[in-house]
Amino acid sequence: MTDTHQTHAPNEVRARSAELRDLLEYHGRLYHVLDDPVIADAEYDGLFRELLALEEAYPELKDPASPTMRVGGAVLDSLSTRAHSQPMYSLDNVFSMAEGREFVRKMLRLLPGADERDMAFWMEPKLDGLAMELIYENGFLVCALTRGDGQTGEEVTENMRTVRSVPLRLASCPPRLSLLEVRGEVLMNKKDFAALNLRQQEAGGRTFANPRNAAAGSVRQLDSAEAARRPLRFIAYGIGKTEWTEGPPWTTQQEIMLGLRDFGFAAAPGAALCPSLEAVEHWYDALVRERDSFPFELDGAVAKVNSLALQEKLGFTARAPRFAVAFKFEAAQARTKLEDILIQVGRTGVLTPVAQLAPVNVGGVVVRRATLHNEDEIRAGDLRIGDTVLVRRAGDVIPEIVAALPELRTGEEQAFVFPDRCPSCGGQVVREAGEAARRCVNRACPAVRREAVRHFVSKAGLDVQGLGDKLVERLLDAGLVNNPAALFRLEEKDLIGLERMGKKAAARVLKALDEARKKTTLPRLLAALGIRHIGEQTAKALAREFSSLEALETAEADDLRRVRDVGPEAAASIRDFFASPGNRELLRALKEAGLCPAEATPPSVAVHSPASPDGTLPDGTQPDVDARNTDAQPAGSSPLAGKTLLFTGTLSSLGRREASRLAEEAGATLVGSVSGRLDYLVAGDNPGSKLAKAEAAGVTILAEADFLRMTGHSENNQGNS
Ligand code: IVH
Repeated sequence: MTDTHQTHAPNEVRARSAELRDLLEYHGRLYHVLDDPVIADAEYDGLFRELLALEEAYPELKDPASPTMRVGGAVLDSLSTRAHSQPMYSLDNVFSMAEGREFVRKMLRLLPGADERDMAFWMEPKLDGLAMELIYENGFLVCALTRGDGQTGEEVTENMRTVRSVPLRLASCPPRLSLLEVRGEVLMNKKDFAALNLRQQEAGGRTFANPRNAAAGSVRQLDSAEAARRPLRFIAYGIGKTEWTEGPPWTTQQEIMLGLRDFGFAAAPGAALCPSLEAVEHWYDALVRERDSFPFELDGAVAKVNSLALQEKLGFTARAPRFAVAFKFEAAQARTKLEDILIQVGRTGVLTPVAQLAPVNVGGVVVRRATLHNEDEIRAGDLRIGDTVLVRRAGDVIPEIVAALPELRTGEEQAFVFPDRCPSCGGQVVREAGEAARRCVNRACPAVRREAVRHFVSKAGLDVQGLGDKLVERLLDAGLVNNPAALFRLEEKDLIGLERMGKKAAARVLKALDEARKKTTLPRLLAALGIRHIGEQTAKALAREFSSLEALETAEADDLRRVRDVGPEAAASIRDFFASPGNRELLRALKEAGLCPAEATPPSVAVHSPASPDGTLPDGTQPDVDARNTDAQPAGSSPLAGKTLLFTGTLSSLGRREASRLAEEAGATLVGSVSGRLDYLVAGDNPGSKLAKAEAAGVTILAEADFLRMTGHSENNQGNS
C-alpha cells in the first residue's frame, strides 16, 4: 500500500468522483438504453479513466454501483439458486387474431359487467431472449435472477452487472421505494450476435446457433469478465414485487413502463397503448411488417390488459396470467422463382415494376405477383430474372420479395434492364430529378388513359357503383371509351354488345353513371380527374376556395398557393393540368355530358384557419351544413383529421414531402417536435431520439404502413396476389 491509499479523499475529490459517476451513468444510459449518445466515445473514455484513477488513488471511493465495476472479474464454481418472491409465469399463446379475440372474450366472461369497448391493451413486441429478474433495494441493484423454473432462478448478478443497459443504481429512486423487482428479457442484437460469432470462430471458441442461445449462454457464464465481453442487452417489460412506503403510484401497465423508463431501463421499442381490439389488430399487423427492421429478434407480440385493477381481478392460472397473451408470429415466408418482371403503367404515367412469380403458397394464400416499387429497389436487391427469391406476406398485406438467394443461382439468371420506353405506347420515359420513379409523359398513352378512366370511376373518384376494373377494361378494349367523358355518352346498345352484359346489367351500369353524374360535387370531380398531388382533401380545400372549374382554371399560381394544403408542387401541377389542350378538351366534354358541379356557397371561412382542420369555425362552432363542402365524405372522417402528427426516420415507400402532403390531406396538422400534446408519431427506419421521447410521453406511434392505411393510401403500391 502506498501513502495515498491511506489518505482520506479530500472533499473536492469525493465531489468530483460522485460527479463523474453521475455523468458516466447519464451518458451510458443515453448510449446503451436510449441509443442516443450526445458525447463522443473518446470523451466518455476520458471521464471513465479519470474516475478509475480517483478510485485507484482513494480505494474508499470504490463502490459496487460505480460504472467502473462493469468489467466483471468474479469467477464462480457454479451458479447458486434463489427463490423468486413472486413466481415468474409463462404466457399463453394464440396464433391468429381470431384466437386472440376468443382470449379476450374469455377475459370478459371473468369480468361481469365489463365491456370490450372499455378494455385497453398495452402492446409490446415479444422479445426472443431469456427472462430475467433484477432486484433493487433502496435503488441499488442487489441481485439478478434467471427465470429458472418460474419459482426458483439462478443468481447471475455479477454477469448482469456488466450489462451496460442494466442500471446499477436507479436513475431516479423515490425515497419511498425500498424494493423494486424489474422483469425483462436479456437478448443480443442481431448485428452484435453476428460479430460475436465471428470473433468466437476466429478465436477457435464455440459459436452459437442464434442470438437467443448466445444470450442464454453468456448470461450463465461463470467468468463475469467473459460475460462483460458479450454484447448483452436488458429490456424491461414489467415488475415483480415492489415495496413502497407510500403508494405504489401506478394504476396501469403503461404507467409502470413509463416509470421504469424514468428509472433508467430500456423498454421495447414500438410499445403502444391500444384502446380497442381493432387497434390491437392494426398494431399487430404493423409489427408483423416491421419485424425485420428491429435490431433484435422478435417472436410475436404480447398484449396485456392495461388496467392493473383488471389485471388483479383476472389473476393467474397455474402457468400463466389471464390478463396477458402472446400473439405468436406465423411463418409467412416462402421460396419461389422470379419468372419475370413486368412493367405496369399507372394513371400518372409512373412505371412500376411487378415481379411475376411461380405461384407459391405463403401463409395460406397463393402469391403470383409482388410489387417491386421502382428500379432502385431492384438494383439494391440485385434481383435477377430466374432468381430463387424469398417471398413474405404478412397478414392482409401485399406480398413482397424479401431477398434473392444468390447461392441458388445457376448462371442462367438475367439482370433486369428497366425500359427507357413506355411498354404501353412506346413513348418516351423520363425520370425527374429527386424521383425514384420513371414516368411515361405521353398524355395519350393507352395505359395512362385506362388508368385515368379506372381512377375516375373508382372510390377515390366519382365512386360509380358497379363499374369495376374489369368492365372498364372491356370498354376500353372495345374502343367504346377512351376518356372519362365518353362513359357518359354510353348507350344501351353499346353495352349489350359486350361479353357477359345483358339488358339488365347494361341498365344498371347506365343508371349508376347517371346517378354519379347527378350527385357529383366539385371536390369529387376534382379528385376524380387524377391531377398529380391533388388528393381528396386538397380537392376539397380547392373547391371551397374556387367555387367552379372555370374559377380554378383561370386561377394564378399565387391564388392557388393561398389554399391550405396546396404547396408549390400541387400549384404547378394544377396549372399544368389546365394548360394542356387535351385536358381542356376533356373538361369541355365532361361539361357537355352534364358534369359541371359548382360549390353552392362562396369560399368557406375555414380555409385558412389552421386551428380548424375539421371545418370548425374560429369560435368553435360548426358552420351550417351548406357552408361546408357538400361532399358525401366529411373532412373529419379520416382517423387523422384534427390530430397533430410528426414524422421521424426514413419512410420506405414515400418521401417526407409526399408523406406530409398525405397527412395534411387527411386533416392532420404537422408539428415540429415531440410533446405530450402530440397525437401521432410516424416512425420510419432509424427513428432516432424522437421515438424514445414520444414513447416516454405516451404518444401513439404509427408505423409507415399504419399511416398509409389511415390516409387511405395503402393500396397505391399494391401488387396482386
Ligand atoms: S410479459 C406474467 N412481455 O415471453 C408474464 N413477456 O413466453 C409476463 N417475453 O417468460 C410476461 N417479451 O420472458 C412479457 N414484452 C414481453 C415479453 C415477454 C418476451 C417472454 C417472457 C416470458 C415469455 C413467455
